[in-house]
Amino acid sequence: MSYADNCKVLFTKEQLEQRIKEVAKQIENDYKGEKVTFIGVLNGVYAFFADLVRNVDMPCHVDFLRASSYSGTTSTGNVKMSLDIKTEIEGRHVIIVEDILDTGRTLAKIRDELLSRNALSVKTAVMLDKPSRRVNDFQADYKCFEIDDLFVVGFGLDYDEKYRNLPYVAIYDEN
Ligand code: IMP
Ligand code: MG
Repeated sequence: MSYADNCKVLFTKEQLEQRIKEVAKQIENDYKGEKVTFIGVLNGVYAFFADLVRNVDMPCHVDFLRASSYSGTTSTGNVKMSLDIKTEIEGRHVIIVEDILDTGRTLAKIRDELLSRNALSVKTAVMLDKPSRRVNDFQADYKCFEIDDLFVVGFGLDYDEKYRNLPYVAIYDEN
């Protein structure tokens, strides 16, 4: 018995760990000899972020920001950064790390903001991608898995702040 018995496993801990290692190697190969600043989007990214950076064998710097879209339960075009990074990113290679890419509004906004601060390059790495939900042409440079239009929880992702601590990604089922 688990408090999450209503959630159906979509990606196990082992599947996630394996795929995150592969993506980490891709990043390592693409940035040979460079130093990268990884910027995580809180809160949902914490588990993926920790696993990703621990598998990248190269010098790196980490920082975090928080972003939220304001309109009750629906995502709007109005994405606001409510906590900013401390790092001066001018002239640095940046990879924004996010739990899930959905409409694309959050990452588009953050990318534009970081580019306006003259980062040398800005790429994005996401654990999950729901391409069918996109409202713009945003594409992640690195992604672990693509999923259908499902609401998922676990491995950092929440439903109403619950289920973030599940060690796997699961489809949330209200019943
Ligand atoms: P968007 O790409 O701007 O629409 O927003 C992405 C954000 O919406 C993510 O960082 C999550 O916080 C949230 N989100 C989108 N889909 C899901 C889901 O299936 N489960 C949990 N959170 C989600
Ligand atoms: Mg998020």
